[in-house]
Amino acid sequence: MSIKRTKIADVFKATPVGSEVTVMGWVRTKRGGKSVTFIALNDGSTIHNLQVVIVPNEENEETLKLVTTGASVSIVGVVVESQGKGQNVEVQANSITVLGTADPNTYPLQKKGHSMEFLREIAHLRPRTNTFGAVFRIRHHMAMAIHTFFHNKGFYYFHTPLITASDAEGAGQMFKVTTLDLNNLPLTESGEIDYSEDFFGRHANLTVSGQLEGELAAMALGGIYTFGPTFRAENSNTPRHLAEFWMIEPEVAFFDNEDNQNLAEEFIKYCLQWALDHCEDDLKFLNDMIDKELLDRIKFVLDKPFVRLKYTEGIEILEKAVKDGVKFEFPIFWGADLASEHERYLVEQHFKAPVILTDYPKEIKSFYMKQNDDGKTVRAMDVLFPKIGEIIGGSEREADFDKLTQRAIDMGVPHEEMWWYWDTRRYGTAPHAGFGLGFERLLLFVTGMSNIRDVIPFPRTPNNAEF
Ligand code: 4AD
Ligand code: MG
Repeated sequence: MSIKRTKIADVFKATPVGSEVTVMGWVRTKRGGKSVTFIALNDGSTIHNLQVVIVPNEENEETLKLVTTGASVSIVGVVVESQGKGQNVEVQANSITVLGTADPNTYPLQKKGHSMEFLREIAHLRPRTNTFGAVFRIRHHMAMAIHTFFHNKGFYYFHTPLITASDAEGAGQMFKVTTLDLNNLPLTESGEIDYSEDFFGRHANLTVSGQLEGELAAMALGGIYTFGPTFRAENSNTPRHLAEFWMIEPEVAFFDNEDNQNLAEEFIKYCLQWALDHCEDDLKFLNDMIDKELLDRIKFVLDKPFVRLKYTEGIEILEKAVKDGVKFEFPIFWGADLASEHERYLVEQHFKAPVILTDYPKEIKSFYMKQNDDGKTVRAMDVLFPKIGEIIGGSEREADFDKLTQRAIDMGVPHEEMWWYWDTRRYGTAPHAGFGLGFERLLLFVTGMSNIRDVIPFPRTPNNAEF
């Protein structure tokens, strides 16, 4: 027979004093002595532990011995006003059942604070800590914010494939998907791997971006967005890179690069406001424990119009900074790809506001971006954020068939297998634009966590695919 369980969040919010409740959760701590025992119980519904007060007696003596940190328990009791600090109500237990024990000699989570590095090694248990509980609740709420934002704007959620034959970014950072026997590869007569014998009858990869298929959809549905995992085999061991990350990619017909910037700014601000509105307790906890400037930083970005400037102007500012004695690790000159130190200098030191940088040199951007008349730059836009650097990358797309295909040829993009993409420019081409937001980069900003491995449940990075 199923038991009606009250979530701890509802005990705090919606349960009148005097009610009998059944609560279930995991023991965070147990303290007290002969006359009374206090259990701090958490069930994931809120950052706040419920204090359970239980009077030890002969009947529950053996059970209470099993109530240790990490054990799961079911408690029937009455909601009463709390005398203790920090909570308005607690539960006076009438009975307690241990659902699952946790041997205190081996259970790795103890009351003392653990390092983020250690918690990564026990990623299967870290959601049980306050910090990761908060982070993963916020992750959920941000996903809801994203779907709500686009749905309310009349965009359609469009599902692009994860397995693909094309390299959308042309950066060659793809993971192969194959069922061939790697120890016994079929070869063609000229000695190359014969992918015609592979599962798909051709070589295939995990996608680095849903954009190209997203463009096909935008050319029919008007405005779409994708929200799914993307995979990049880039060997960058930084606090901002994952080999598997989630990306949100809106793509909009009849949009130019300015519309694109407006959408990006409105979108990010909507998500940040949503976090303030829906994640108050978790944000407050993270602000207290992880990053004392978190809430101020979120509010600051909400209040500020994003600075918009061209790449060329950005380079001028950075070159002047170098002249004035600012030291960067990587050289800066017109044509250079910005490193995150440069991006953060513009945002944190120079403008003290988020920056949308546009019109980058075409050599450092993808083939599909709309070419400017100067012959040198493309209508790219990157949104740069405090603490993060690049949080969004996007552009207006080259809508002209000849210009697009010529650029693709110049950049060595395989032509034949992309026939379907060229068709969008052949039939009813239209101006359009879009961008990609790195979901975990957004979460870094919203949670104040400093390593991207700590905002995704099970991070995949070079040499790490545990769990
Ligand atoms: O700038 P990127 O490479 O742009 C694209 O993929 C375009 N197709 C997007 C579009 O126009 N539809 O990636 C977009 C964003 C970056 O700004 C960054 O936030 C995030 O994705 N990102 C990563 N996040 C975590 N780990 C990585 N390795 C990432 N690479 C990119
Ligand atoms: Mg980018």
